[in-house]
Amino acid sequence: MTTNKLHIGIIGAGRIGKVHAETLAFRLPDAQTVAITDVNREAAQSVAARFNIPRVAASSAEILADPQIDAVLICSPTPTHTDLIIQAAQAGKHIFCEKPIAFSLAQIDAALAAVSSAGVQLQIGFNRRFDSNFARVRQAVASGEIGTPSLLQIISRDPAPPPLSYIRSSGGIFLDMTIHDFDMARFLIGDEVEEIYTTAGVMVDPAIGQAGDLDTALTVLRFRNGVIGSIDNSRKAAYGYDQRVEILGSKGKIDTGNCYPNQATVSGATSVYRDLPLNFFMERYTESFASEMRSFVSAVLERRPTVVTGIDGRIPVAMALAARKSYDEHRPVRIEEVVA
Ligand SMILES: NC(=O)c1ccc[n+]([C@@H]2O[C@H](COP(=O)([O-])OP(=O)(O)OC[C@H]3O[C@@H](n4cnc5c(N)ncnc54)[C@H](O)[C@@H]3O)[C@@H](O)[C@H]2O)c1
Repeated sequence: MTTNKLHIGIIGAGRIGKVHAETLAFRLPDAQTVAITDVNREAAQSVAARFNIPRVAASSAEILADPQIDAVLICSPTPTHTDLIIQAAQAGKHIFCEKPIAFSLAQIDAALAAVSSAGVQLQIGFNRRFDSNFARVRQAVASGEIGTPSLLQIISRDPAPPPLSYIRSSGGIFLDMTIHDFDMARFLIGDEVEEIYTTAGVMVDPAIGQAGDLDTALTVLRFRNGVIGSIDNSRKAAYGYDQRVEILGSKGKIDTGNCYPNQATVSGATSVYRDLPLNFFMERYTESFASEMRSFVSAVLERRPTVVTGIDGRIPVAMALAARKSYDEHRPVRIEEVVA
């Protein structure tokens, strides 16, 4: 590193690439985005113009060959992640990679081996760990404030499904959407899941089923320490983004509700009501995206381990593979069946 500022290159200027470019531009004085690339050059140009990024690179190879760049953000679609991780590690760049790392554990292992032999730092984009509500839930479990946990409930419903083109390359609901909840489950409880049972269906849009995916799922988790968890997913909740958690423990419970654009309630002659929750991840998790990026930048600058490691990226993929196997085979699946 030439100065104490982290110089960053962004690969992928879509939905999440834009979120990180904005954070880096306006909220992180310790970092500077020096180049961005996208196979759709216009997308990269428009993000560069909006967020004062001085250069649009012709390719990811150009970013990786740039000696001025210390770290890369991999924000391109999931099927591109492991090749880019391997190339970035070989180029000596520190890496922030969006979730999930990949759809297969073999590919993930190859990428993590490249990271380890290059000695670079890797953080995976599980931003919800940095959300202040979920962090407080974790604190209540870790400190014993609610006693010994026994039941975990995660409700995670999107306001509307993504486009079919995204669904086709996303790896399916468990690897794309529930993956965040799998990460949340092990983060909040502080232990590993050993068995998963899933029942699921297509209740939102038949086109999602025709694309080979599901849009509605209930996943039951059994942790090594005995905690029983459930994850309730839907690709569409008519009232908006629904992100809630509850944990019951021997001394009490902790729960978090949805976040709202304002705290106002309107009281009339027949009802009391309020505005809908913040509509989707860009609004609901804005602060957590900024915090995760701050955490990555400071880990690299201060040469500390990242908070969400490669193994933290691998385990939820194993959980997602177990969930899909459970759905396909109509039975509980132990995690060791998919990692063997
Ligand atoms: N952490 C989160 O909450 C979160 C939210 C959304 C997406 N994601 C993840 O981020 C990744 C991207 O998702 P998105 O929603 O931004 O998708 P997107 O389709 O909006 O954007 C992806 C961009 O990458 C570009 N691209 C494709 N191949 C490329 C390549 N080889 N090199 C450079 N650019 C390339 C595309 O042209 C597109 O502009 C996915 O892995 C997704 O799972 C994470």
